[in-house]
Amino acid sequence: MEEQEVNNPFVVGKYLSDKYFCDRSEETEFLRKQIMNGRDVALISPRRIGKSGLIQHFFNQPDIKSQYHVFFVDIYATTSLAEFVYTLGKEIYAQLKPQATVWKEKFFQTITSFRVGFKLDSLTGAPSFDLGLGDIQTPQTTLDEIFAYVEEADRPCIIAIDEFQQIGEYAEKNVEALLRTKIQKCHRAQFIFSGSKRHVMSNMFNSPSKPFYQSAISMGLEPIPVHIYKEFVSSLFTERNRQIEDEVIERVWNQYDGYTWFVQMMMNELFAMTPEGGNCRISMIDIAHHNVVMAQEQSYKDLLSNLPPKQKIVLQAIAKEGVAQNITSAKFIKKYNLNTASSVQAAVKLLLKNDLVTHTDNGYRIYDFFLSEWLATIY
Ligand SMILES: Nc1ncnc2c1ncn2[C@@H]1O[C@H](COP(=O)(O)OP(=O)(O)OP(=O)(O)O)[C@@H](O)[C@H]1O
Ligand SMILES: [Mg+2]
Repeated sequence: MEEQEVNNPFVVGKYLSDKYFCDRSEETEFLRKQIMNGRDVALISPRRIGKSGLIQHFFNQPDIKSQYHVFFVDIYATTSLAEFVYTLGKEIYAQLKPQATVWKEKFFQTITSFRVGFKLDSLTGAPSFDLGLGDIQTPQTTLDEIFAYVEEADRPCIIAIDEFQQIGEYAEKNVEALLRTKIQKCHRAQFIFSGSKRHVMSNMFNSPSKPFYQSAISMGLEPIPVHIYKEFVSSLFTERNRQIEDEVIERVWNQYDGYTWFVQMMMNELFAMTPEGGNCRISMIDIAHHNVVMAQEQSYKDLLSNLPPKQKIVLQAIAKEGVAQNITSAKFIKKYNLNTASSVQAAVKLLLKNDLVTHTDNGYRIYDFFLSEWLATIY
């Protein structure tokens, strides 16, 4: 990837290059070792820590890029096998499109069910791929064809399936077993399965009754250690003729338990607030924080307006508490005027399922620190 220059070096929401990516050298090495030795990997960590970023960083390593074809599919929004197949096929085509290989030429020959999507641009004559979800009539057949295609690849492939736990939610019942069988027969590709629902993911890979049992090496991801993150931030500030007090970085890191997305969001704002030649000071944290939370306000309002009232009041109670323990106790229910223990339980179950709330060792908290702070102050 050629170097892309950006105004603000604290890049959030996408992977640009090594330069804007903090460390993860051990994790990258670990992935390399597993993949090079023919083992698939299940990458499991809480949300917003940096799973997707790590996979993209790994795929961007020169040796990996030159030895493998790499594919990254995020299946978070998919709800059926047909959508899975569609997403995977699109990604493979998108990656191969700029390449001039014999293998690419075989795409539509092997994956015959995609042929309907093959179009020639009427002006330029260039081939394009215009497939609709409705074109996937028999997902299993198409999946077989995709895997058959991968088997013919001129280089080994690495296929990362992000938010893999989603296959458990598919309309069809047997997807886990089906995928496992197909993946097992696929010798030309290796897989990285990543997901944030620890419980669901561990269950998939670590329980003997499940199809994916012991089929992959499990790997967790911890927050980037604060001393490493500090170096990263300081050097990006210095490079752009700015300074930042060490304590600013420490405080921000601590405030969000080192969860990469939140910390990077704050650093992005703090950088934006620091003029060239200036110094980023502790006193700027509160303003940065206010700016970041307010920038999300509309999406938080939308979220709340779509939330059933019973979940909303429990969410607010958890926000006020920060980290909430014994949420079904009489004390908690009384303090926040909640209904009954069973209604709180039911609401929390849904909040957990929809990724709004997480259960940590210390109790329940709202996943999104900014949302939590916004809720606690607004209501
Ligand atoms: N090592 C890193 N250095 C700098 N920024 C990073 C790093 N890792 C992740 N990020 C940034 O932090 C944000 C969150 O990372 P990422 O999306 O990879 O997390 P995730 O664990 O996949 O989250 P989710 O479960 O929500 O998908 C991203 O916007 C990314 O730009
Ligand atoms: Mg992700």
